[in-house]
Amino acid sequence: MKREDIDRIASFLGDLKCKTQKEVEEARVRLLGKKGEITALFDEFRNVDRAQKAEFGKALNELKQKAMAKIEELKGTVADSGASDGPKADLSMPGDPFELGSRHPVSIVRQEIVDIFRKFGYDVAEGPEIEDDYHVFEALNFPANHPARDMQDTFFVSAGHPNPLLLRTHTSSVQVRTMEKMDVPIRVICPGRVFRNEAISARAHCIFHQVEGLYIDEGVTFADLKQAILLFAREMFGPDTQIRMRPSYFPFTEPSAEVDVSCNICHGKGCNICKGTGWLEILGCGMVDPNVLEASGIDSKRYSGFAFGMGLERIAMLKWRVNDLRHYFENDMRFLHEFATAPEV
Ligand code: DAH
Repeated sequence: MKREDIDRIASFLGDLKCKTQKEVEEARVRLLGKKGEITALFDEFRNVDRAQKAEFGKALNELKQKAMAKIEELKGTVADSGASDGPKADLSMPGDPFELGSRHPVSIVRQEIVDIFRKFGYDVAEGPEIEDDYHVFEALNFPANHPARDMQDTFFVSAGHPNPLLLRTHTSSVQVRTMEKMDVPIRVICPGRVFRNEAISARAHCIFHQVEGLYIDEGVTFADLKQAILLFAREMFGPDTQIRMRPSYFPFTEPSAEVDVSCNICHGKGCNICKGTGWLEILGCGMVDPNVLEASGIDSKRYSGFAFGMGLERIAMLKWRVNDLRHYFENDMRFLHEFATAPEV
């Protein structure tokens, strides 16, 4: 082995240019393959004089490192195919954008409602979607066979049992579970998914979402309820929002009311969203019936409370003026993308 052999290969490496991966591979084989030139020098190394071994060994190792680095470098910069007119891929092209998901509008509204009530000091409580008759109806003052049960057409999981399992028809069941578990005072909101045997249309679906609210303490009155709802409505729909309460009926509250907010589109003048009335219905509410308190072991002589329940899809429809509930369930990307810029909440 001569010093020149090493220098010759080193200068070859310095000048080496390849246009295709094939050429890179050929260069690799020529230098580092089994019968490659550098490999051959390593074979010859055993015949080198002892005195020169250290110098040659070092030079030879450096040469091999250089050759390997050069081959790697060429592999990375040369186009894949055998084309000889430069790289085929246009490396200056913009990359494929990685699509980021966005929050579902119902999730956005739920978070907004939770944030508002958190500010008022409410905790979040959750309960099971597969419930029993007791927590959905019985403990909420719907006696067996009472016609009020028809207000909520139910999917049963197991029928023919004294306390059948069913898909909860409202999140009011979480009120009951909370009253069973927590000590008074209680201040919770319960967001969740509910199920009803309804024909699917622009205004109804068999799956939807509600938020339930419950406040129990000594001396809670209807005035407190009204104030809580008014503050909520103003946070949610804007500071000029008015509310109106209409007498209603729910088995678990007495008295009960339905709440409308002033139409934030026409500001009370009347438009097609509020059907010319200037008002939009947003929730049901009332003072918790003493029977409901007692069923969960709360002394109704000492404590009173209010409850309310609202549909999230309905609130989202009003907020974004969506006129068909089904949009929320079809996962059409064109619809969901409309909310991609909604503020991160
Ligand atoms: N649970 C009722 C429903 O699904 C909504 C509701 C009305 C909840 C009045 C309440 C309430 O807590 O007080 O239709």
